[in-house]
Amino acid sequence: MARVHVIANQKGGVGKTTVTVNLAAVVADTLGGSLEEPQVLGVSTDPQASMMEWAERVGDALPFDFAQCHDDPGSLSRLRQLDQYAHIFVDTPGSLEDEAILQTVLAQADDVIVPLEPEPMSFSPAARSIQRVIAQSGAPWRVLLNNWDPRDGDADLLQTKAYVAAQGWPTFNTVVRHYKLHTRASAEGVTVVQFPKNRVALEARQDFFRLALEVLGSDGQAPRHAQSGNAVTASKGA
Ligand SMILES: Nc1ncnc2c1ncn2[C@@H]1O[C@H](COP(=O)(O)OP(=O)(O)OP(=O)(O)O)[C@@H](O)[C@H]1O
Ligand SMILES: [Mg+2]
Repeated sequence: MARVHVIANQKGGVGKTTVTVNLAAVVADTLGGSLEEPQVLGVSTDPQASMMEWAERVGDALPFDFAQCHDDPGSLSRLRQLDQYAHIFVDTPGSLEDEAILQTVLAQADDVIVPLEPEPMSFSPAARSIQRVIAQSGAPWRVLLNNWDPRDGDADLLQTKAYVAAQGWPTFNTVVRHYKLHTRASAEGVTVVQFPKNRVALEARQDFFRLALEVLGSDGQAPRHAQSGNAVTASKGA
């Protein structure tokens, strides 16, 4: 049974696509698997299809399979049955409009990653998304601080961590830093695993390797859906 990781936050531009593509790439690269039989699937449920455009530019170097599924709720509701994959990473839209699709994939999620920028303007929209939709799904979720630029000092980062702690939100230890390499990666048709081997690029990659360790080792237990015959119904009643 595939483990389904959903990357969600209905606030736009917080890094959902960046995190989905690079995390899928790092996990696929680490797990190995052949070109014919990749162990990882990346799925976009965003009608804007920015992940698809990125994947197409990477071309044959993309270490995972990719599917654009924003208009295919039937397939999305059966994601975890895709036994040929060990892990599935799902990008979701940054808007309130496509909530039905988001709810469909959240019902399949073994875990949810909620990217958040260290920027006070992002707090309220993220809180709404978490409270109204993500936490309601019953899937375990964690906030990921993304796009922090150390050159700006740590005031915003500390403020964001204090806000997240005050909300009682679970978080990843990893903070994904801001690198121009990430901003340019889609246009240049690369993921972190194709970055050059210089110091800055290795630092940028390192954030995603650390994140992957946290995601894959998240609880050391069987996927949520393997533990309960009817987790979706159970969580709705909770
Ligand atoms: N860690 C990072 N370092 C540098 N740039 C980043 C980082 N994370 C995201 N970005 C940039 O920020 C912008 C928004 O990121 P991205 O497209 O991944 O967000 P999103 O949440 O998927 O947006 P949308 O809601 O529109 O789908 C992009 O230009 C991306 O390259
Ligand atoms: Mg996106």
